[in-house]
Amino acid sequence: MRQHKLGLCKTHFLEWLPQQTERFITKYKMFSRADKVLVAVSGGKDSLALWDILNEAGYQADGLYIGLGIEGEQNYSERSLRFSQRFAEARGLKLHTVDIQREYGSSIPEIAERTPKGDEKPCAVCGVSKRNIMNRVARQHGYDVLATGHNLDDEAAVLFSNTMHWLGNYLQRQSPVLEAAHPGLVRKVKPLFRFYERETAAYALLRGIDYIYEECPFSVGAKSIYYKEILNRMEADRPGAKLIFYLSFLRARETGLFAEPQRTTGELSTCPNCGQPTASPDLCAFCRMVAA
Ligand code: AMP
Ligand code: FES
Ligand code: ZN
Repeated sequence: MRQHKLGLCKTHFLEWLPQQTERFITKYKMFSRADKVLVAVSGGKDSLALWDILNEAGYQADGLYIGLGIEGEQNYSERSLRFSQRFAEARGLKLHTVDIQREYGSSIPEIAERTPKGDEKPCAVCGVSKRNIMNRVARQHGYDVLATGHNLDDEAAVLFSNTMHWLGNYLQRQSPVLEAAHPGLVRKVKPLFRFYERETAAYALLRGIDYIYEECPFSVGAKSIYYKEILNRMEADRPGAKLIFYLSFLRARETGLFAEPQRTTGELSTCPNCGQPTASPDLCAFCRMVAA
């Protein structure tokens, strides 16, 4: 790991990564062992590695898998569900599952078809839907916090994109810990945000975690992948570049680079259909899409 000037054998790597995770959970005040954690699992390496680490460390962590109804050549959603289920069964863990098609009548690609611009790439529709459902399930079952498997490569790519377009609102809010800004919202955390993708992949492999290798078929040609490639090139020349980019951003914001967030909780209203908080005065973005 040139970025840390550190080289570890299997045994020590498998001690190091969970210890670091624990350190970050404490340092960024994510949650404690008294909290009920809901881990959003996609069947991929990051989220399953996260669930594994939290479970091994004695946290109360259940899983949530959202079936998006994405087929592709490999039957992507079906297969990722099976990886998530097998992981849970092998460890006796509780996995909540929500099948969008069954519960809302249409799959993500179908909802996207009916959404302006959604027919090109369903990813935006997918993101809105996942956020709505993750929050709903976490609230319904009384979880204190929702954890996702986002790693440093993910976060640095999003930061790159947000900076590229100077999206002030997004830059204000991009964070490893997102406090619940409304009673209807659950706290969100990303305990793996300081790990390189290579590190979470190594952890999953060394722990023998079976995960889905394929990416979502719609991710081909995505902007985020382009930004990841650029950052990887910088990283190759300057080990640690991604970490510096992201951590310096957090520090700069903490010391007042950006103004205080303008958004107050009073501006959120309640969606008359799903009952979740929304910035729009009537149906939330998700319910509007489903109803279209
Ligand atoms: P992605 O948006 O695919 O980069 O995934 C980021 C994180 O969102 C993952 O690490 C998971 O924690 C969560 N996630 C992605 N897809 C799903 C899904 N289908 N069901 C539940 N959680 C998911
Ligand atoms: Fe949502 Fe690909 S469009 S995972
Ligand atoms: Zn709604």
